[in-house]
Amino acid sequence: MSRLEGKTALITGAARGIGRAFAEAYVREGAKVCIADIDIARARKTVDEIGPAATAIAMDVTRQESIDAAVDEAIAAMGHIDILINNAAIFSAAPIVEITREDYRRVFDINVSGVLFTMQAVARHMIDRGQGGKIINMASQAGRRGEPLVAVYCASKAAIISLTQSAGLNLIEHRINVNAIAPGVVDGEHWDGVDAFFAKYEGKAPGQKKKEVGAGVPYGRMGRAEDLTGMAVFLATPEADYIVAQCYNVDGGQWMS
Ligand SMILES: NC(=O)c1ccc[n+]([C@@H]2O[C@H](COP(=O)([O-])OP(=O)(O)OC[C@H]3O[C@@H](n4cnc5c(N)ncnc54)[C@H](O)[C@@H]3O)[C@@H](O)[C@H]2O)c1
Repeated sequence: MSRLEGKTALITGAARGIGRAFAEAYVREGAKVCIADIDIARARKTVDEIGPAATAIAMDVTRQESIDAAVDEAIAAMGHIDILINNAAIFSAAPIVEITREDYRRVFDINVSGVLFTMQAVARHMIDRGQGGKIINMASQAGRRGEPLVAVYCASKAAIISLTQSAGLNLIEHRINVNAIAPGVVDGEHWDGVDAFFAKYEGKAPGQKKKEVGAGVPYGRMGRAEDLTGMAVFLATPEADYIVAQCYNVDGGQWMS
């Protein structure tokens, strides 16, 4: 199937993990992709492995000049941008009494401001072009409810659900669909870090937290990046044209709303 034939996508944070799986799925569906990441060496390696439909772009979503340059570079490489996936984010965790302003700023700079201002830059391009577009923001089940040791990350993902609603309502008049995906627990390098954090704060053996969260998923295991690609492809197709400002849980049954 080539459901994204002729389409072009900019995917932030796609050097590894879920973003990389999105890039691979989009290329399989016929799209060209720009893999934009702060880790340009890893982005280049990923592009070498994916093939000529992918281009690596250096991008730091916390810096406006880097966002603008990355968007220009993506347009130069692909001609225009039909689809943006705002995927770059970092995890952070600490008990409330240990949260630092520095960490709070870092998380919100990447996870919230990075999404808002990348969305803004790409939306301006899409509006100028007049052909509509699709924007997919990566939220999380962490944005659906707080967690005792994960206040800042949870708040950043709740902000993504809210930004998706406002931007979705604002941009649909230009036929730009803004929606979000809320994964549950997805194994990979991101969760290696989460596991290490809980090993430290809850005295667990390495790998123990992953086993526990996997067993707690109604589906019976942690997610894999590939479990999310179906939704990411669907939201970028014309079949999803009438879907506006929504956040979809793709989490093996963990959250219902
Ligand atoms: N893994 C999970 O369990 C899970 C669950 C829910 C939501 N999510 C969300 O899904 C998305 C992808 O998660 P993942 O597990 O693949 O994470 P990951 O940590 O494996 O990948 C994140 C990527 O973002 C890049 N990045 C970090 N800071 C950046 C910056 N300033 N500018 C540009 N790129 C930057 C990193 O280099 C990395 O390649 C994130 O938004 C994450 O919050 C993940």
